[in-house]
Amino acid sequence: MTAPELRTDRLLLRPLRADDLNAMVRVYEHPDTSHFFTTDRSDPAEVARFVDGRLAAQASGPAGLATWVFVHGDEVVGHGHVMPSRALPPELLEIGWVLGKDHWGRGFAAEAASAMVEHGLHTLGLPALWALVHQDNGSSRRLAGRLGFLDVGGGDYYGGPHRVLVRLPAADTTSTGARRAANGEAITHSGG
Ligand SMILES: CC(C)(COP(=O)(O)OP(=O)(O)OC[C@H]1O[C@@H](n2cnc3c(N)ncnc32)[C@H](O)[C@@H]1OP(=O)(O)O)[C@@H](O)C(=O)NCCC(=O)NCCS
Repeated sequence: MTAPELRTDRLLLRPLRADDLNAMVRVYEHPDTSHFFTTDRSDPAEVARFVDGRLAAQASGPAGLATWVFVHGDEVVGHGHVMPSRALPPELLEIGWVLGKDHWGRGFAAEAASAMVEHGLHTLGLPALWALVHQDNGSSRRLAGRLGFLDVGGGDYYGGPHRVLVRLPAADTTSTGARRAANGEAITHSGG
């Protein structure tokens, strides 16, 4: 199965195409958008490398998974993905989300991420989705918490300190764990 388009109230999520390059350059135009990433994607050449890499990964990756662009009206406002992790063991499926700075604070990332979570965990039946979020990226950590991701540890990933978050199919977003993750607190496990 190739990756499908996903729809939300306000957004169309469709798999990334080569002709999305200019739109992706606009998403990353403001340096704040890639502040927590290893490369400064306000440089269009970096975006071109990034898009090429994502298209190659999508073409060779597991069926049903993709990098999706988020389209609002006729504008690409951001993108996200569910793909094998490049930092955790590759059998773990990692989710991510990015909005152009002009589109922060409107709930678009939450809406798009909910659709990707639903697709991954329920349509595809994946056992879990993983996310790596820079420890200082408060808005992304709050978003993950609201989506029911639990903080299960931390470490150096993608060139800096990141929290390791996991979303299970049965996650109850009203649980104590989800509330603590939403507040940016680490949840520790005693093992056993
Ligand atoms: C992380 C990122 C996607 C979060 O974007 P966001 O717009 O804050 O996220 P959400 O979609 O969850 O929106 C929540 C905000 O929209 C507001 N909002 C407005 N209308 C809303 C609506 N209809 N529904 C939900 N929230 C709404 C909320 O009040 C909240 O605002 P607040 O942060 O001031 O409290 C964005 O900051 C980003 O792209 N950063 C750069 C890339 C990045 O770091 N990605 C993450 C890598 S791990």
